[in-house]
Amino acid sequence: MAEFHTVARTSDLGEGEGMTVAVGTKLIALFREGGRYFAIDDMCPHMGSSLSGGYLENGIVTCPWHAWRFRLADGAWADNPRIKIGCYPVRVEGEDIQVQV
Ligand code: FES
Repeated sequence: MAEFHTVARTSDLGEGEGMTVAVGTKLIALFREGGRYFAIDDMCPHMGSSLSGGYLENGIVTCPWHAWRFRLADGAWADNPRIKIGCYPVRVEGEDIQVQV
């Protein structure tokens, strides 16, 4: 059963930023945009770049290597939403950012 895991503190992630966090062996890209937090798989399905270092705008992160674009809300590839990467619920408990994996 998926559980919430504390992956960072709210002070670790500024507005418009992303960071890579680990839950066990799984790497997750955590983002903050518009005061909300989002979590998707960190590895781009194209050639494996880390998405946490991508360009973030209007709820979409653009992969830093070849510019594939993924929606933060559901992990869908913005140019072909039939393809999706993992997307995980996020909650804030006090100062802790928690991801359900
Ligand atoms: S590795 Fe992400 S678009 Fe190529």
